[in-house]
Amino acid sequence: MSTIDELNDMRTKALTEIAAAGDGASLETVRVAYLGKKGELTAILRGLGSLSAQERPIVGKTSNEVRQELEAALDGRRRDLEHVELEAKVSADAVDVTLPGRGRVPGREHLIEMITRQVVEVFIGLGYRIVEGPQVELDYYNFTALNHPPAHPARAATDTFYVRDLEAGDARTTGESDVLLRTHTSPVQVRVMENEEPPIYVLAPGKVFRRDIADPSHLPQFTQVEGLVVDEGITFGDLKGTLDYFCKEMFGHDRKTRFRPHFFPFTEPSAEVDVSCGICGGDGCRFCKYTGWLEILGCGMVDPNVFGYVDIDTERFSGFAFGMGVERIAALKYNIPDLRMLVEGDMRFLRQF
Ligand code: PHE
Repeated sequence: MSTIDELNDMRTKALTEIAAAGDGASLETVRVAYLGKKGELTAILRGLGSLSAQERPIVGKTSNEVRQELEAALDGRRRDLEHVELEAKVSADAVDVTLPGRGRVPGREHLIEMITRQVVEVFIGLGYRIVEGPQVELDYYNFTALNHPPAHPARAATDTFYVRDLEAGDARTTGESDVLLRTHTSPVQVRVMENEEPPIYVLAPGKVFRRDIADPSHLPQFTQVEGLVVDEGITFGDLKGTLDYFCKEMFGHDRKTRFRPHFFPFTEPSAEVDVSCGICGGDGCRFCKYTGWLEILGCGMVDPNVFGYVDIDTERFSGFAFGMGVERIAALKYNIPDLRMLVEGDMRFLRQF
């Protein structure tokens, strides 16, 4: 077979193989087989020197034509394959924009936060300022300066979480220490009066802790809002008017309030405030234990002994204080039968509010 015939056969074979190459790698194999260093066409081009003077220019010219033709065919096929690959990738990655999206439930304010905010808003409207105090508190602020005698039952380790001072090597596990988790927000009263001169109109929301077992009406950690007013000429009438207004704002204007005499070490006189039952309207039902009333807060006139601890002149100033449980108010407002539902984090329950 002449070299020209050989070249023509090779061209046909190579073009067929190029057209048949299904991906970039097999196309490269074809290229190497013909145009690579040891390729068939390369071998012919290398052998040009040994051909006769007549044959050499013809074979040389034809070889170059074949090389150019194969290179063009390779380029063309490479572009086709790239296109096919791109198409495949695009359709594999395709997003069906007509599919409906997955719904996401937006976050929301927890009921405890919501009630706290509502209480705060009522008193902000009356000109009160918001203040805060530490949750880990000193016995002095939680009890002593609030006029609790040394043997007051609330001080017992069975009622109060005491914090052990490990650095001081205090190994007591049951006995009292000077550091505790505050059992109410009333210590904030002392901290404010220690640092500020009257007139004082403040509200102190925050977490409190008591060694109670969780049950329908108790939680070991709950939320209180404390109020304190100290000014010239403050009377029990101001306290009653303020809390009556608060209850109507909070529970609705059809609700009545009543003040029952009570005792707190740090207020004198003291009272507990009840709001008329929203379920029976005051006639008596299971929710209000057939009394027609629901207890919502404790209050009273600041005891002169407390003013003594913070050096406020009792000749010139008087004041009142009150404290309420946020979880309890939430329960009364929405007829929630068990306070534990407020802290269990069950969205089916929480989403209702
Ligand atoms: N600190 C009291 C309690 O936790 C409530 C209270 C606050 C009573 C302020 C009187 C004045 O029960």
